Amino acid sequence: MLPTLKAAFALLSLLQLVSGTPVTSSHPQQALKEITTRIQAFNSEAQVPCNDTRVAQVPFTDPKLPEQELLCQAQVALTKVTMCKKIYEPLISNLKFLHGKRNCNLSDDNEIYLRHFLPALGNFTQGMFRRRGWAAQ
Ligand SMILES: *[C@@H]1O[C@H](CO)[C@@H](O)[C@H](O)[C@H]1NC(C)=O
Ligand SMILES: *[C@@H]1O[C@H](CO)[C@@H](O)[C@H](O)[C@H]1NC(C)=O
Ligand SMILES: *[C@@H]1O[C@H](CO)[C@@H](O)[C@H](O)[C@H]1NC(C)=O
Repeated sequence: MLPTLKAAFALLSLLQLVSGTPVTSSHPQQALKEITTRIQAFNSEAQVPCNDTRVAQVPFTDPKLPEQELLCQAQVALTKVTMCKKIYEPLISNLKFLHGKRNCNLSDDNEIYLRHFLPALGNFTQGMFRRRGWAAQ
């Protein structure tokens, strides 16, 4: 319990440092879990909402890119899904909370279907959750 809390607070202060504003509304652990759980729920349906929408591909497995950058890119990519804006808004706001960046380098060179993008994002947030030593879900 104690190491978990310590890690959470360390991340929180880092986020506050990066964003320059106090974070009060949520918690990194909660935000990561929220994203992962919602994506798992979408994936368990016959089709994810707006499955055929194409979004920019985010290089989640590139070890050279910081997590904050990847989270920011994912948020920008998802923001382009205008047809299902309402449905994906909770993912977007949690991603925004987690990365706390103003902008990031999202390349439009490669696009993938949303139905392939979401599992990759869910896998990434789940991996972040595990790397912080938080309980598996
Ligand atoms: C996407 O979802 C729609 C509506 O459920 C469905 O008609 C379509 O076949 C799906 N596309 C793919 C490629 O699965
Ligand atoms: C964005 O890309 C430019 C040019 O490729 C690079 O100089 C800059 O450091 C990148 N910024 C981030 C946040 O990765
Ligand atoms: C899931 O994430 C792990 C790292 O967290 C990565 O090694 C693996 O390739 C990812 N799998 C998929 C299908 O994206």
